[in-house]
Amino acid sequence: MSGTLLVTGGSRGIGAATCRLAAERGFAVAVNYRDDEDAANEVVEEARARGAAACAVRGDVASEAEVERVFRESEEALGPLKALVNSAGIAGNGAPVAEFRAEVLERLLAVNVLGLQLCCREAVRRMSTRHGGRGGVIVNVSSMAATIGGRAFASDYAASKAAVDVFSQGLAKEVSGDGIRVNVVRPGMTFTDMTTRVKENPKLRERIEASIPMHRIAEADEIARPIVWLLSDEASFVSGAHLDASGGGFLV
Ligand SMILES: NC(=O)c1ccc[n+]([C@@H]2O[C@H](COP(=O)([O-])OP(=O)(O)OC[C@H]3O[C@@H](n4cnc5c(N)ncnc54)[C@H](OP(=O)(O)O)[C@@H]3O)[C@@H](O)[C@H]2O)c1
Repeated sequence: MSGTLLVTGGSRGIGAATCRLAAERGFAVAVNYRDDEDAANEVVEEARARGAAACAVRGDVASEAEVERVFRESEEALGPLKALVNSAGIAGNGAPVAEFRAEVLERLLAVNVLGLQLCCREAVRRMSTRHGGRGGVIVNVSSMAATIGGRAFASDYAASKAAVDVFSQGLAKEVSGDGIRVNVVRPGMTFTDMTTRVKENPKLRERIEASIPMHRIAEADEIARPIVWLLSDEASFVSGAHLDASGGGFLV
Protein backbone atom coordinates (compact mmCIF):
# COMPACT_ATOMS: atom_id res chain seq x y z
CA MET A 1 0.00 0.00 0.00
CA SER A 2 1.22 3.48 -0.72
CA GLY A 3 0.08 7.09 -0.69
CA THR A 4 -1.10 9.36 2.07
CA LEU A 5 -3.52 8.16 4.72
CA LEU A 6 -5.18 10.67 7.06
CA VAL A 7 -6.53 9.23 10.30
CA THR A 8 -8.79 11.54 12.28
CA GLY A 9 -8.36 10.84 15.98
CA GLY A 10 -5.12 9.10 15.08
CA SER A 11 -3.36 10.04 18.29
CA ARG A 12 -4.99 7.54 20.64
CA GLY A 13 -6.92 4.28 20.79
CA ILE A 14 -8.22 2.68 17.61
CA GLY A 15 -6.95 5.54 15.44
CA ALA A 16 -3.41 5.23 16.84
CA ALA A 17 -3.39 1.45 16.32
CA THR A 18 -4.55 2.07 12.73
CA CYS A 19 -1.73 4.58 12.14
CA ARG A 20 0.91 2.13 13.41
CA LEU A 21 -0.33 -0.77 11.27
CA ALA A 22 -0.88 1.37 8.16
CA ALA A 23 2.67 2.70 8.51
CA GLU A 24 3.96 -0.88 8.56
CA ARG A 25 1.99 -1.58 5.37
CA GLY A 26 3.54 1.35 3.49
CA PHE A 27 1.21 4.32 3.91
CA ALA A 28 2.50 7.79 4.71
CA VAL A 29 0.43 8.67 7.77
CA ALA A 30 -1.09 11.99 8.82
CA VAL A 31 -2.06 11.71 12.49
CA ASN A 32 -4.91 14.08 13.32
CA TYR A 33 -5.61 15.02 16.93
CA ARG A 34 -7.49 17.71 18.80
CA ASP A 35 -5.73 18.25 22.16
CA ASP A 36 -3.10 15.70 23.03
CA GLU A 37 -0.04 16.78 21.05
CA ASP A 38 2.33 14.47 22.94
CA ALA A 39 0.22 11.42 22.10
CA ALA A 40 0.10 12.45 18.42
CA ASN A 41 3.86 13.01 18.28
CA GLU A 42 4.44 9.59 19.85
CA VAL A 43 2.36 7.92 17.11
CA VAL A 44 4.30 9.89 14.47
CA GLU A 45 7.58 8.62 15.94
CA GLU A 46 6.23 5.04 15.98
CA ALA A 47 5.18 5.35 12.33
CA ARG A 48 8.60 6.70 11.36
CA ALA A 49 10.28 3.87 13.26
CA ARG A 50 8.34 1.53 10.96
CA GLY A 51 9.85 3.28 7.93
CA ALA A 52 6.88 5.49 7.03
CA ALA A 53 6.66 9.21 6.44
CA ALA A 54 4.37 10.73 9.06
CA CYS A 55 3.18 14.01 10.50
CA ALA A 56 0.88 15.20 13.28
CA VAL A 57 -1.93 17.58 12.33
CA ARG A 58 -3.91 19.37 15.02
CA GLY A 59 -7.55 20.16 14.27
CA ASP A 60 -11.06 19.77 15.66
CA VAL A 61 -13.14 17.81 13.17
CA ALA A 62 -16.25 19.64 14.37
CA SER A 63 -14.90 22.87 12.83
CA GLU A 64 -15.22 23.26 9.07
CA ALA A 65 -12.27 25.65 8.86
CA GLU A 66 -10.06 23.31 10.89
CA VAL A 67 -11.06 20.29 8.79
CA GLU A 68 -10.10 22.15 5.62
CA ARG A 69 -6.76 23.09 7.16
CA VAL A 70 -6.10 19.52 8.37
CA PHE A 71 -6.52 18.15 4.83
CA ARG A 72 -4.41 20.95 3.34
CA GLU A 73 -1.57 20.47 5.83
CA SER A 74 -1.64 16.68 5.50
CA GLU A 75 -1.18 16.88 1.74
CA GLU A 76 1.45 19.63 1.98
CA ALA A 77 3.48 17.41 4.31
CA LEU A 78 2.96 13.99 2.74
CA GLY A 79 1.49 14.31 -0.78
CA PRO A 80 -1.90 13.57 -2.38
CA LEU A 81 -4.50 11.88 -0.21
CA LYS A 82 -5.17 8.23 -1.01
CA ALA A 83 -7.07 7.12 2.07
CA LEU A 84 -9.08 8.46 5.00
CA VAL A 85 -10.00 6.76 8.25
CA ASN A 86 -12.51 8.66 10.38
CA SER A 87 -11.80 7.43 13.89
CA ALA A 88 -12.25 10.69 15.85
CA GLY A 89 -15.26 10.26 18.07
CA ILE A 90 -16.57 10.98 21.53
CA ALA A 91 -19.00 9.27 23.89
CA GLY A 92 -22.20 10.89 25.11
CA ASN A 93 -22.92 11.95 28.64
CA GLY A 94 -24.07 8.57 29.90
CA ALA A 95 -27.38 10.14 30.90
CA PRO A 96 -30.99 8.99 30.61
CA VAL A 97 -32.99 10.81 27.96
CA ALA A 98 -34.90 12.79 30.61
CA GLU A 99 -31.57 14.41 31.59
CA PHE A 100 -30.26 15.18 28.10
CA ARG A 101 -28.61 18.58 27.72
CA ALA A 102 -28.74 20.31 24.36
CA GLU A 103 -25.11 21.45 24.44
CA VAL A 104 -23.88 17.89 25.09
CA LEU A 105 -25.97 16.52 22.22
CA GLU A 106 -24.79 19.31 19.93
CA ARG A 107 -21.14 18.55 20.63
CA LEU A 108 -21.67 14.79 20.23
CA LEU A 109 -23.34 15.21 16.85
CA ALA A 110 -20.85 17.89 15.77
CA VAL A 111 -17.90 15.54 16.33
CA ASN A 112 -19.35 12.12 15.47
CA VAL A 113 -21.59 13.08 12.54
CA LEU A 114 -20.94 16.58 11.18
CA GLY A 115 -17.16 16.23 11.57
CA LEU A 116 -17.08 12.85 9.86
CA GLN A 117 -19.23 14.15 7.00
CA LEU A 118 -17.02 17.21 6.49
CA CYS A 119 -13.94 14.98 6.40
CA CYS A 120 -15.63 12.75 3.82
CA ARG A 121 -16.45 15.83 1.76
CA GLU A 122 -12.81 16.93 1.75
CA ALA A 123 -11.69 13.41 0.84
CA VAL A 124 -14.20 13.14 -2.03
CA ARG A 125 -13.13 16.52 -3.41
CA ARG A 126 -9.57 15.25 -3.60
CA MET A 127 -10.00 11.58 -4.54
CA SER A 128 -12.99 11.45 -6.86
CA THR A 129 -12.17 10.86 -10.52
CA ARG A 130 -15.15 13.15 -11.20
CA HIS A 131 -13.13 15.97 -9.59
CA GLY A 132 -9.85 15.07 -11.29
CA GLY A 133 -8.60 12.78 -8.50
CA ARG A 134 -7.17 9.29 -8.78
CA GLY A 135 -9.63 7.46 -6.56
CA GLY A 136 -9.15 6.36 -2.99
CA VAL A 137 -10.70 4.69 0.01
CA ILE A 138 -12.58 5.81 3.12
CA VAL A 139 -13.21 3.81 6.29
CA ASN A 140 -15.62 5.27 8.83
CA VAL A 141 -15.49 3.99 12.40
CA SER A 142 -18.99 3.44 13.73
CA SER A 143 -19.97 1.23 16.67
CA MET A 144 -21.95 -1.89 17.45
CA ALA A 145 -23.99 0.48 19.62
CA ALA A 146 -25.75 1.49 16.40
CA THR A 147 -27.16 -2.01 16.03
CA ILE A 148 -28.88 -2.16 19.45
CA GLY A 149 -29.63 1.45 20.36
CA GLY A 150 -26.57 1.44 22.63
CA ARG A 151 -25.98 0.01 26.08
CA ALA A 152 -27.74 1.69 29.02
CA PHE A 153 -27.84 5.48 28.76
CA ALA A 154 -25.99 5.58 25.45
CA SER A 155 -28.90 6.13 23.06
CA ASP A 156 -27.46 9.52 22.02
CA TYR A 157 -24.11 7.97 21.11
CA ALA A 158 -25.84 5.03 19.39
CA ALA A 159 -27.91 7.43 17.30
CA SER A 160 -24.79 9.30 16.20
CA LYS A 161 -23.23 6.02 15.05
CA ALA A 162 -26.40 4.91 13.26
CA ALA A 163 -26.08 8.17 11.32
CA VAL A 164 -22.52 7.19 10.40
CA ASP A 165 -23.73 3.80 9.11
CA VAL A 166 -26.49 5.22 6.92
CA PHE A 167 -24.46 8.17 5.67
CA SER A 168 -21.62 5.84 4.66
CA GLN A 169 -24.03 3.58 2.79
CA GLY A 170 -25.34 6.55 0.81
CA LEU A 171 -21.85 7.92 0.20
CA ALA A 172 -20.67 4.53 -1.10
CA LYS A 173 -23.49 4.53 -3.63
CA GLU A 174 -22.63 8.06 -4.69
CA VAL A 175 -18.87 7.70 -5.17
CA SER A 176 -18.05 4.02 -5.79
CA GLY A 177 -18.33 4.72 -9.54
CA ASP A 178 -15.86 7.59 -9.14
CA GLY A 179 -13.04 5.42 -7.82
CA ILE A 180 -13.73 5.72 -4.09
CA ARG A 181 -14.58 2.76 -1.89
CA VAL A 182 -16.41 3.63 1.33
CA ASN A 183 -16.85 1.19 4.19
CA VAL A 184 -17.72 1.12 7.87
CA VAL A 185 -16.08 -0.81 10.69
CA ARG A 186 -18.29 -1.31 13.74
CA PRO A 187 -16.17 -2.12 16.78
CA GLY A 188 -17.60 -3.78 19.83
CA MET A 189 -16.28 -2.63 23.18
CA THR A 190 -12.52 -2.04 22.89
CA PHE A 191 -9.89 -1.16 25.48
CA THR A 192 -8.95 2.48 24.88
CA ASP A 193 -9.12 5.70 26.89
CA MET A 194 -12.82 5.85 25.97
CA THR A 195 -13.49 2.72 28.02
CA THR A 196 -11.14 3.28 30.99
CA ARG A 197 -14.11 3.21 33.37
CA VAL A 198 -14.84 -0.37 32.27
CA LYS A 199 -11.25 -1.48 32.81
CA GLU A 200 -11.26 0.08 36.26
CA ASN A 201 -14.57 -1.41 37.40
CA PRO A 202 -14.32 -5.23 37.65
CA LYS A 203 -18.09 -5.74 38.14
CA LEU A 204 -18.97 -3.64 35.10
CA ARG A 205 -16.26 -5.34 33.06
CA GLU A 206 -17.59 -8.77 34.01
CA ARG A 207 -21.13 -7.77 33.04
CA ILE A 208 -20.00 -6.45 29.68
CA GLU A 209 -17.79 -9.46 28.94
CA ALA A 210 -20.71 -11.76 29.73
CA SER A 211 -22.74 -9.98 27.04
CA ILE A 212 -20.15 -10.64 24.30
CA PRO A 213 -20.10 -14.09 22.63
CA MET A 214 -16.27 -14.21 22.83
CA HIS A 215 -16.52 -13.15 26.50
CA ARG A 216 -13.85 -10.50 26.20
CA ILE A 217 -13.26 -6.90 25.22
CA ALA A 218 -11.19 -6.16 22.11
CA GLU A 219 -7.72 -4.68 21.93
CA ALA A 220 -7.34 -1.68 19.60
CA ASP A 221 -5.13 -3.71 17.23
CA GLU A 222 -8.03 -6.10 16.63
CA ILE A 223 -10.06 -3.21 15.24
CA ALA A 224 -7.14 -1.68 13.33
CA ARG A 225 -6.55 -4.88 11.37
CA PRO A 226 -9.98 -4.97 9.65
CA ILE A 227 -9.72 -1.23 9.05
CA VAL A 228 -6.36 -1.62 7.30
CA TRP A 229 -7.65 -4.62 5.37
CA LEU A 230 -10.49 -2.46 4.03
CA LEU A 231 -7.91 0.17 3.01
CA SER A 232 -5.96 -2.45 1.07
CA ASP A 233 -6.41 -3.76 -2.46
CA GLU A 234 -7.41 -7.08 -0.90
CA ALA A 235 -10.77 -5.36 -0.45
CA SER A 236 -10.88 -4.00 -4.01
CA PHE A 237 -14.54 -4.98 -4.61
CA VAL A 238 -15.76 -4.12 -1.12
CA SER A 239 -17.69 -0.85 -0.88
CA GLY A 240 -20.78 0.05 1.11
CA ALA A 241 -20.07 -2.69 3.67
CA HIS A 242 -20.55 -2.59 7.44
CA LEU A 243 -17.90 -4.85 8.96
CA ASP A 244 -18.61 -5.84 12.57
CA ALA A 245 -15.46 -6.38 14.67
CA SER A 246 -17.38 -7.33 17.75
CA GLY A 247 -16.44 -10.74 19.08
CA GLY A 248 -19.73 -12.09 17.77
CA GLY A 249 -22.07 -9.21 18.60
CA PHE A 250 -24.26 -9.35 21.69
CA LEU A 251 -25.65 -12.25 23.72
CA VAL A 252 -29.25 -11.44 24.51
N1 LIG B 1 -13.41 2.09 22.46
C1 LIG B 1 -14.55 1.48 22.17
O1 LIG B 1 -15.04 0.61 22.93
C2 LIG B 1 -15.29 1.81 20.90
C3 LIG B 1 -16.32 0.96 20.50
C4 LIG B 1 -17.03 1.24 19.34
C5 LIG B 1 -16.70 2.34 18.58
N2 LIG B 1 -15.69 3.16 18.99
C6 LIG B 1 -15.39 4.31 18.13
O2 LIG B 1 -14.05 4.21 17.71
C7 LIG B 1 -13.52 5.52 17.48
C8 LIG B 1 -12.21 5.65 18.25
O3 LIG B 1 -12.51 5.47 19.63
P1 LIG B 1 -11.35 5.23 20.71
O4 LIG B 1 -11.92 4.33 21.73
O5 LIG B 1 -10.09 4.93 20.02
O6 LIG B 1 -11.31 6.71 21.35
P2 LIG B 1 -10.19 7.41 22.25
O7 LIG B 1 -9.18 6.42 22.73
O8 LIG B 1 -10.95 8.23 23.24
O9 LIG B 1 -9.46 8.37 21.22
C9 LIG B 1 -10.20 9.36 20.58
C10 LIG B 1 -9.35 10.01 19.54
O10 LIG B 1 -10.17 10.96 18.83
C11 LIG B 1 -9.57 12.25 18.92
N3 LIG B 1 -10.63 13.25 18.94
C12 LIG B 1 -11.68 13.34 19.79
N4 LIG B 1 -12.45 14.39 19.47
C13 LIG B 1 -11.87 14.96 18.38
C14 LIG B 1 -12.19 16.07 17.57
N5 LIG B 1 -13.24 16.83 17.84
N6 LIG B 1 -11.38 16.36 16.53
C15 LIG B 1 -10.27 15.60 16.26
N7 LIG B 1 -9.92 14.54 16.99
C16 LIG B 1 -10.71 14.23 18.03
C17 LIG B 1 -8.72 12.22 20.17
O11 LIG B 1 -7.71 13.21 20.09
P3 LIG B 1 -7.21 14.03 21.42
O12 LIG B 1 -6.57 13.03 22.31
O13 LIG B 1 -6.27 15.05 20.93
O14 LIG B 1 -8.47 14.59 22.02
C18 LIG B 1 -8.18 10.80 20.10
O15 LIG B 1 -7.11 10.71 19.19
C19 LIG B 1 -14.60 6.50 17.92
O16 LIG B 1 -15.30 6.95 16.80
C20 LIG B 1 -15.50 5.65 18.82
O17 LIG B 1 -16.82 6.14 18.84
C21 LIG B 1 -14.97 2.92 20.12
